[in-house]
Amino acid sequence: MTHPNSDDLLQWYDINAREMPWRTPPAEKQAGVKPDPYRVWMSEIMLQQTTVATVRDYFIKFTKRWPTVDDLAAAEDADVMAYWAGLGYYARARNLLKCARAVSQLGAFPQTYDELIKLPGIGPYTAAAVSSIAFDEPSPVMDGNVERVMARLFDIHTPLPAAKPELYAKTAELTPRARAGDYAQAVMDLGATICTPKNPACGICPWWTPCLARQNGTAAELPKKTPK
Ligand code: ADE
Repeated sequence: MTHPNSDDLLQWYDINAREMPWRTPPAEKQAGVKPDPYRVWMSEIMLQQTTVATVRDYFIKFTKRWPTVDDLAAAEDADVMAYWAGLGYYARARNLLKCARAVSQLGAFPQTYDELIKLPGIGPYTAAAVSSIAFDEPSPVMDGNVERVMARLFDIHTPLPAAKPELYAKTAELTPRARAGDYAQAVMDLGATICTPKNPACGICPWWTPCLARQNGTAAELPKKTPK
């Protein structure tokens, strides 16, 4: 019985992280360049109901037009809404602007989960993602990818959404005190590229050995869902 280890996943991530315009390139990261919280925040808001492939161009367009949170805070509402066109869920755009104005008033992005969650449009997912990715606070991050990976890794058959607290506890346990943001992004990348909903590529998974669903042959049927 081997217990999964976050180091095995981080080693895989160091080589296989997907390149994204809001991520620090490996060479810069090596040199100690920290992620820009404004870019992390904007990407996480956009990624909530939209795929990485679609978000990419919108993210580039937004950050070219408004390179800093103060620039965005000073934008016209109608201008931001026009730039958002096509991304859907327009409440996100209105909250984006509200949040930018609040942060600009504060003078900088708050660095902790507890402070971030107070801002408009920032819920538990975004507060955890920004505090861990931008500020290395070890807040556990959970999204659909993380749920699937945890359900398989620990062969959890409780259906969603009832399984959420159990799955959260598992990823919380695995979240390292150092590199919490990389761990969160590594689980998401693993879920998007290897531990996929259909035909997971278990043969090349860094958690092949400890994965209980792989051992029991149940990966394809997890996570279970309560029928609607
Ligand atoms: N999905 C949402 N946020 C993400 C991130 N930071 N990396 C990869 N996939 C994501």
